Amino acid sequence: MDNPSLPLVLVTHTLPEGWLDLLEGHCRTLNGPLDAVDLSPELEASLGEAEGLFCLLTIPVTRILLEKAPRLRVVSNMAVGVDNIDLQACTQRAIPVGNTPGVLTDGTADLAMAILLAAARQLPQANRDARAGRWKTWSPTSWLGADLSGATLGIVGMGQIGSAVARRATAFGLHLVYTDTRVHPEVEEQLGAIRLTLLDLLRLSDFVSLHVPLTSETYHLINEKTLSVMKPSAILVNTSRGPVVATEALVLALKQGWIAGAALDVTDPEPLPPEHPLYSLPNCLIVPHIGSATWNTRQRMAERACENLLAGLAGKRLPYCANPEVYDQD
Ligand code: DGY
Repeated sequence: MDNPSLPLVLVTHTLPEGWLDLLEGHCRTLNGPLDAVDLSPELEASLGEAEGLFCLLTIPVTRILLEKAPRLRVVSNMAVGVDNIDLQACTQRAIPVGNTPGVLTDGTADLAMAILLAAARQLPQANRDARAGRWKTWSPTSWLGADLSGATLGIVGMGQIGSAVARRATAFGLHLVYTDTRVHPEVEEQLGAIRLTLLDLLRLSDFVSLHVPLTSETYHLINEKTLSVMKPSAILVNTSRGPVVATEALVLALKQGWIAGAALDVTDPEPLPPEHPLYSLPNCLIVPHIGSATWNTRQRMAERACENLLAGLAGKRLPYCANPEVYDQD
């Protein structure tokens, strides 16, 4: 039986058993359904009482939502990206926002390499052809792809995930260039990565992998202009956020051969509707935002989100806070 004196926490989804164990005894929880695409009506009706919000990246935490939740003291996103949250509105309300960096670095970097390789070696097409009976013989010219060894990988955003991709890429013999707002001596010294401007990186790279958060600066960073300077043989990999790439420009670039292919874990919009033109392009590999989708990673993300939530409820600094400026205000 829930103790009514404990703070109420809205958990926007139902998560597997054990993932929220850390919350037990510290708060009352009200869960939305497993596949909720928005705040469920029951949770919406309880916003007035909620002191904590535990949410997934699909739930927009807007100023309007915050206005309905006058007692809210902490928002904990089970994701590293926080572009679904109005951070400014939270900060103005002195609400710290938690996120989950670190624990999904390896999982996401693995997936970036997986889809890069899959696109480079035409795995989806080869798999489709084999299943459809189009594998007639060992042909010297069928399903030819691109080599990684000796090619250049451009990493856009050398944060934790970008660096983890860089480490993996060197094992495949890729040369590294990167672009970032700051110099990263460790990847330069240990992996030989060279820092370039975005345009120079795009001109030079055989593969380009995006690892920037979605902000007003990175929105449509990859657009008609930037796609048009890439090599016609290049493959674009996106495991960051869909809107970092201007979708219509990408469709054009793939159709007209400005670049050779794309491998997307994230899209704009998301989910990508089945009739979307990107699906009709054989040179576009699409997976449904599964960068962090391993059991271990997702459970650790949930636990990290619980730790943030509990710290917020206890009035302590969140271990992983996406709006640290919230602590600098009076
Ligand atoms: C995140 O945490 O931001 C990722 O996109 C989830 O896979």
